[in-house]
Amino acid sequence: MLMLLFLSCSCRFIVTNNGSGHNVAGLRYKEYQLQDYSSWFLKQLNNTNNWKHLKSCLVKADDCSNLSRKYKTLKQYKLAKLTPIEAGCCRPPSVCGYPSVNASYYDFSFHPTSSNKDCKSYKNSRAIKCYSCDACKAGVAQYMKTEWRWLQSST
Ligand SMILES: *[C@@H]1O[C@H](CO)[C@@H](O)[C@H](O)[C@H]1NC(C)=O
Ligand SMILES: *[C@@H]1O[C@H](CO)[C@@H](O)[C@H](O)[C@H]1NC(C)=O
Ligand SMILES: *[C@@H]1O[C@H](CO)[C@@H](O)[C@H](O)[C@H]1NC(C)=O
Ligand SMILES: *[C@@H]1O[C@H](CO)[C@@H](O)[C@H](O)[C@H]1NC(C)=O
Repeated sequence: MLMLLFLSCSCRFIVTNNGSGHNVAGLRYKEYQLQDYSSWFLKQLNNTNNWKHLKSCLVKADDCSNLSRKYKTLKQYKLAKLTPIEAGCCRPPSVCGYPSVNASYYDFSFHPTSSNKDCKSYKNSRAIKCYSCDACKAGVAQYMKTEWRWLQSST
């Protein structure tokens, strides 16, 4: 489903230097950072119009709302293996340190010590989440990278 929205862009140039992700203590999935991807690709992704389009698709796909359906308890959520897009777009990056109440709600009474601007971008609102975060762009970048590798190897 997400594939469709990416097909329209010319995406053969996502050369990644180092898109292998970053391990975070206590998490069973990796976090991705924008600076791991090639600058040409980042420019496309960071182009406000491109991103607005992608973002609206992500909101519509509503994968994030699904998280709280899939992981009913906080414990399940903490053990979850999120996809790169879920990890980047549905939650604030772990450096922000917001405690999670459940899969769709983070406690904002905590004040992050990190200056990462994603910490300010994240909102619990269903339509906002971390969709404007750099972490979300990085998640999408990683998603594309793996999808296209698959496409390449299947042709
Ligand atoms: C990717 O970058 C991280 C630090 O940013 C480094 O620790 C890791 O070794 C790199 N991995 C590869 C495959 O280059
Ligand atoms: C993305 O664009 C913003 C302004 O639109 C700019 O400040 C930022 O440096 C850009 N980031 C990258 C990785 O190109
Ligand atoms: C949402 O979660 C359900 C149950 O886990 C799953 O079957 C469905 O494919 C998910 N939908 C999306 C869009 O991820
Ligand atoms: C998550 O927690 C918030 C705040 O306690 C609550 O309003 C919301 O309904 C909870 N969501 C789910 C899916 O349990």
